[in-house]
Amino acid sequence: MMLRIAMPKGRLLKQCRTLFDKIGFDLSAMDREKRKLMFSFPEYGFEVMVVKPMDVPVYVEYGVADLGVAGKDVILEEKSDVYEPLDLGFGHCRMVVAQPKGIELPRYGLGLKVATKYPRIAEYHYSKKGIPVEIIQLYGSVELAPLVGLAHQIVDIVETGTTLRENNLEEVETIFEITARLIVNRSSMRLKYKRISELISAIEKGLPV
Ligand code: PRP
Repeated sequence: MMLRIAMPKGRLLKQCRTLFDKIGFDLSAMDREKRKLMFSFPEYGFEVMVVKPMDVPVYVEYGVADLGVAGKDVILEEKSDVYEPLDLGFGHCRMVVAQPKGIELPRYGLGLKVATKYPRIAEYHYSKKGIPVEIIQLYGSVELAPLVGLAHQIVDIVETGTTLRENNLEEVETIFEITARLIVNRSSMRLKYKRISELISAIEKGLPV
C-alpha cells in the first residue's frame, strides 16, 4: 500500500524537496504542474500531497496522510496528537513577542492587546505569566497590527528579523525556537511500521549531522 506524505506549501517545501532528493527520491515531477495538489510516485511507494503548513498536522492526525513535515510552531498551535520522530533541522526560526520601539504598554498588562496568527500559543504564553490579554487573530502581515493601533504587541515568527526591522518593531522576548519536524500518524506507525521506519531511517541519513 502506498504511503501518503503531507508536505507544506511555501518556504519549507523547497527544503523538503532537497532532503528527499538527497536520499534518492527525485520529486521533480512536482514542478511540472504548479497547481496540482497530489503527486503519485509508485516507484517509491508513496504519494505526496501539498497543503497549507497549518493543515499538515491535521491531515496527519486524522490519518489521511501517514507522515508529514511541519514546523514546531504549527504542531504546538494545532496541539496535534502525532508522533514526532525527527527534528529535520531546517526551517530554523523562533516564536517571539515583539512591539513598536519605545511603546508604552498598559500598566500591569491590563487591556493588553496582542495580534497573532498563533492564538493558542499566544494565549498560553501570557496566561503562564498571569497577564490577561485580548488575543486578536490575524491570518498574515501581523507586523502591521501594532503600527495601526490594532494591538500593542504581536506574537509571531522571526526568521531573519527583516520584517520586524523594516516595520520598526523590536523583539522583546523569545518564546521558543522552531525547526521543521517529521510527524507520523499514530496508527499508521503501528500498522505500517516497517515501511514507515525504513523511510524515517532513510530521511535521518539525509540530515546533516
Ligand atoms: C512570516 C512571519 C513574519 C516573517 C518573518 O510571515 O509571520 O512576518 O515571515 O520573516 P523575517 O524575520 O525573515 O522577516 P510570512 O512571510 O509567512 O507571511 P504572512 O505573515 O503574510 O503569513
